[in-house]
Amino acid sequence: MTITVIGTGFVGLVTASVFASFGHTVYGLDIDARKIALLKKAKAPFFEPHLDELLKETLNKKKLKFTTDYAEAISASQVILVAVGTPSSESGGVDITYVKSALVELSKHLKPGTIVAIKSTLPPGAVVELKKILDELVSVQYSLATVPEFLREGSAVSDTLKPARIVIGTEDPDTFAVLKQLHSPFNAPVIQTKPASAQMAKYAANAYLATRITFINQIADLCEKNGADVEEVIQAIGYDPRIRSHYWYPGLGYGGSCFPKDVRELAYFSRQVGEKTNLFNKIQEINDLRLGRLMTQFANFVSGWEGKTVAVLGLAFKPNTDDTREAPSAKIIPQLLSEGATVYGYDPKASLTEFIRLNCDAHAQYSEKKSIVSACKNADVILLLIEWPEIASFNYSSVKNSSEQYIIDTRNILDKSLAASWGYHYRGIGRGDHS
Ligand code: UGA
Repeated sequence: MTITVIGTGFVGLVTASVFASFGHTVYGLDIDARKIALLKKAKAPFFEPHLDELLKETLNKKKLKFTTDYAEAISASQVILVAVGTPSSESGGVDITYVKSALVELSKHLKPGTIVAIKSTLPPGAVVELKKILDELVSVQYSLATVPEFLREGSAVSDTLKPARIVIGTEDPDTFAVLKQLHSPFNAPVIQTKPASAQMAKYAANAYLATRITFINQIADLCEKNGADVEEVIQAIGYDPRIRSHYWYPGLGYGGSCFPKDVRELAYFSRQVGEKTNLFNKIQEINDLRLGRLMTQFANFVSGWEGKTVAVLGLAFKPNTDDTREAPSAKIIPQLLSEGATVYGYDPKASLTEFIRLNCDAHAQYSEKKSIVSACKNADVILLLIEWPEIASFNYSSVKNSSEQYIIDTRNILDKSLAASWGYHYRGIGRGDHS
């Protein structure tokens, strides 16, 4: 089959390479000529484990082709997957301008019988509006479906290769049959839904996971007040098969390019349809306030940031990515600098140097180091933000000096009694007593 994937961000690029690795001919189409030039040389514009190898392999086999030319790609394709960005609009809703422009462009070259399947996250119901646009522009027979994406950054390739399920939003049996066949190598359960249900399933999955994280963060806060340890609580409740222990490690609140945006948009959608008192408003509000509240507690713990040297370990929003969108580091470091700290940042892949230079008056007090050891040298406070394996497994006793030193472990990745035995004042999240 010949497929076009429009948009070469995380979702589009990984999807295009994976389908090409199954032997399909895939066009990766993007209007960004600079990006396409890089991709033709097998260089992904971001870090994602195993993606470079997959790009190289599929480009070498000539299964994957990158282009900016709609005519070339669309006129050759039986299936078009639209995976362009749907950022939040100023009002809090979803801006689907990029999806609309992609549809306008592809409508000029559609051949009869083509399936256009939208992977981009769309607000429930938007597909009706998109269908109207296409119907006005296209004279040949075509079909419009939605196929929401559930991959995570940092494990995008393996998530795409081993999805928990494939959701196909279409009421047309022929379209369903073709899309089901296309997804058959994944060996995953395939669920056929109405297009609006598929879109809602995407929001519901992300909002549920964000709720779960917010829930455990609130339990962690209560543990701070009564001497309980949230890690023990998670273990204890996780034996209930309805609950389990996965996907609720507490921390500074969820970040990244998806949860904050999707919860905000679902809250907005709820208000728009008259559900003014809704859970999603509250989840968003709690998450937005969390980091500031914890920073006040951390400042008290270390007796203020003024004059302190702070090593910030983990600048990306999560491990195995260089993405810093809605990363805790991007909020914490400016605050530390404005409160008079000197900050040394370290991350195996991500950098905030340019962001700090543009956004912080005290940017001269910030620098990035090439190793954990050099970031922690002379640090009064070690702030563990992200559970990169290297950061989680590092032996912090090797950087302990003779002075009073603190470790703030926002991911509960260290053994707290071990950290205390090394001579650090240790503070985790929801771990009761602070030494
Ligand atoms: C998320 C979903 O997990 C994917 O299924 C979805 O496809 C994707 O959004 C999307 O909509 O595109 P992602 O944002 O890449 O994926 O990362 P997650 O691993 O889910 O983490 C999101 C945030 O929650 C991070 O800030 C992470 O640190 C935080 N988190 C995650 C916790 O605080 N606790 C947890 O137990 C898990």
